[in-house]
Formats: sequence, C-alpha cells, structure tokens
Amino acid sequence: MKIGIDKIGFYAPHIYVDMNKLAVARNVEPEKFTIGIGQSQMAVAPVTQDSVSLAANAALEIIDDEDREKIDFVIFGSESGIDHSKSGAVYVHQLLGLNPHARAIEVKQACYGATAGIQMAKGHIALNPDSKVLVLGSDIARYGLKTSGESTQGAGAVAMIISANPRIMELEEHNVYLTNDIMDFWRPIYSDMAFVDGKFSNEQYILFFNKVWEAYKEKAGLQLSDMEAICFHLPYTKMGLKALRTVLDEASEDVQNRLLYNYQASTTYNRNVGNIYTGSLYLSLLSLLENKEELQDGARIGMYSYGSGAVGEFFSGILQPGFKKHLFVEAHQQLFARRKEVSVEEYEVIFEETLPKDGSDIELDITKDPAAICLSGTIDNKRQYVNKLR
Ligand code: COA
Repeated sequence: MKIGIDKIGFYAPHIYVDMNKLAVARNVEPEKFTIGIGQSQMAVAPVTQDSVSLAANAALEIIDDEDREKIDFVIFGSESGIDHSKSGAVYVHQLLGLNPHARAIEVKQACYGATAGIQMAKGHIALNPDSKVLVLGSDIARYGLKTSGESTQGAGAVAMIISANPRIMELEEHNVYLTNDIMDFWRPIYSDMAFVDGKFSNEQYILFFNKVWEAYKEKAGLQLSDMEAICFHLPYTKMGLKALRTVLDEASEDVQNRLLYNYQASTTYNRNVGNIYTGSLYLSLLSLLENKEELQDGARIGMYSYGSGAVGEFFSGILQPGFKKHLFVEAHQQLFARRKEVSVEEYEVIFEETLPKDGSDIELDITKDPAAICLSGTIDNKRQYVNKLR
C-alpha cells in the first residue's frame, strides 16, 4: 500500500521585513544577508498570530468535509508551542471542526518535530488505511533583536494530510535517522528566546547530513543520480546549499547541475519567509513543487530533516501521477502578493509586543490581521482564538 502526502498547505503572517533594509539598520553589508545567509524577506508574526493560529490557517486551505470526517489523528510539530502541558493539536482540532474521535498530540524535537509526525502518521495509516492524519509543522523563530541569529528568524506553518494512495508524494522505505546529545541550539523553559551556538550548529547540520546520506545510500541502494532534487531543512537558504555542496562531487556534471538548479526552486518560498523551524523542510518541498514547472510525475525527491539537539533523518518520496492538480499554487501566490512590508522600526515594535506575563487578561485588535484564524486575547490565563469564517 502506498502511504504519503495527500495534500499540503501553507500559511505565513501578512507582514515581512526586507533583509536589505534590516542589514542597513544593523550596519552590515546587505549582501551578507541576501547572499551570505541567502534570505530576501523575513516574515514577522504579529501578536495576533501564534504557533496554533498559524497551523490552523495553514490547514484551513486544504481541509474539506471528507477530511474533517476521516482525520483521526492530529500531530502538531512545534518548538514554539503555547503551553507546557496542553498540545497545540487540541486547539487546531477544535478550530477546524474535526471529528471528535481523533487523537491530538504535540511532538517536540527542535526542527525535526514535523518529520517525526510524518513517520508516526505513516505507521498509523499502515494500521488504519481508511483514516487520514493531519501533520502540522508550525513555529515562530525568535532569536532577539540585534542578535547574530536575528537574520535567520521567520514565522509560518505547513499542514499536510497523510493518507493511503496519496495524491502528491508517496513516502519510500529506507529512512535513515541519527541522534546525538549536543548543545547547538536550545530554549530553556524560562526563556522566550532560543540560545544558539551558530557555528557549531552549522557544522553539526552538515555532519549529520553526511552521516545519514552515507547510510541511506547503502540501505536504499540509491545514489545522487536517482534524486531529481534534494529538499533540506532550511534555517536559511545558504545552509542547505553548503550541505549539498559537500556531496556533489559524487555525481556527474549533469546531475550536479540538475541538483543545483532544482535547489533554487526548493528555496524560493523559504528565502521570502525565513526560518519556520519544523515546517522549513516541508516549505522547501512545497517551494520545489510549486516553482519547478518541469517537475515530472514519478520523480524521486530526497528529504533531509535536522532538529538541533540533535536528530537528523534522510528519507525520500516519489511524486504521484497528476500531483500538480492537487497543489494550491494560486492561493500561495496570492498569499505572497498580499503581504505588506513593514519598516525595521515597525518590526522592532511588533517583535516586542507580547502577551502579558503576569496572567492579566488582554483583548487584541484582530481587525488589522487578515488571517481567517487569529489569537484574540487571553481570559483567565486561557488563550482565545477566533475563526472569522465561522
Ligand atoms: N557578501 C557575501 N557574503 C557575506 C558577506 C558579504 N558582504 N559578509 C559575510 N558574508 C557571508 C559569510 O562569509 C558567511 O558565509 P559562509 O558561512 O558561507 O562562510 C555568511 O555570510 C554568514 O556570515 P557569518 O559571519 O558566519 O554570520 P554570523 O556570525 O552573523 O552568523 C549564523 C550566521 C547563521 C551562524 C547566525 O545567524 C545564527 O546563529 N543563526 C541561527 C542558527 C542557525 O540557523 N543554525 C543553522 C543550523 S539549524
């Protein structure tokens, strides 16, 4: 039985900062951000969007009534969850009006959470072929104003339905995974901002890639030439390129050129959204599918997932016949076209605007946020969400 991605949706907040202007404000050469880091725009989350609302908005565009009935498992991958106890999946389940007879959980392992969710979903579908699983990767990447990680922030979510006989990508066997206890990036319970050893995390990302790629080749009996493209977890678009370059000399010049060319398509969306942590790899896949017109049915796509701390995984998928018909290309083009640029000064004010930390109630102005699902405030320490479409 084929199991894989049946639908894939995406949402990013409606405002962004231009990286050239951020560079000027931070007194660095714009090329450092646009070429050295490889980012053009950075999505900024207003206070009316959190990881739950972003995920619900991403799922909203792909869910139909049949999905509402058949989804019996919601897996919320996040490292910027809103509660230490209750899962974001339970909120999303309610906001989307899903069948009550469903499981709903949150999965955490830095940027690896959504991949863990997909692999769990695969097992669930193998045992329950008639059901569907909603896997969410949703995050707001915050390192802090004027920090070295600032240029690698972002916000957004990807939502995927995993099912039997998937219409977009069948997930293949031969996954290879790796865990090692390292401190390259972490966020202690008391801190809103991540701690990161940037250079070390870059090194480990590449080291993990090299190890899982070597083991994958042996296990699957496949090589670079079997891959139409490789999608990477993208904290910033230069990162995946650095990893790809370490293995390119294994292939002929034609294959090298193909992988480098397709890498561009697989980074277009990420370049204009920034890091969305757990969703980043899947945003890269979406970017490839929606920006590379010549992509053929049956093509094999390599997928490299990395979550600091650290867990890495390499797996692959096969694009299904007619997959293009099941993408939401126009909706995503509109999403990008309708976004508004904010100045660096405005971004700084928005960045500092957070919910009260003393438990007091707050009512947020959601009229400025065009998203269908917004965080409207807190009452008695409980987050309040509004689905404007209901
Ligand atoms: N034109 C072109 N490139 C330039 C440049 C210019 N004028 N100035 C600098 N660069 C390049 C540097 O050469 C470097 O490229 P390289 O890594 O290929 O050598 C790149 O821009 C970044 O410069 P660097 O000095 O390393 O930046 P930094 O000290 O500000 O840190 C990160 C960059 C990514 C390490 C930092 O933003 C960070 O810690 N981010 C969060 C962690 C993260 O995303 N980790 C990834 C693994 S999950």
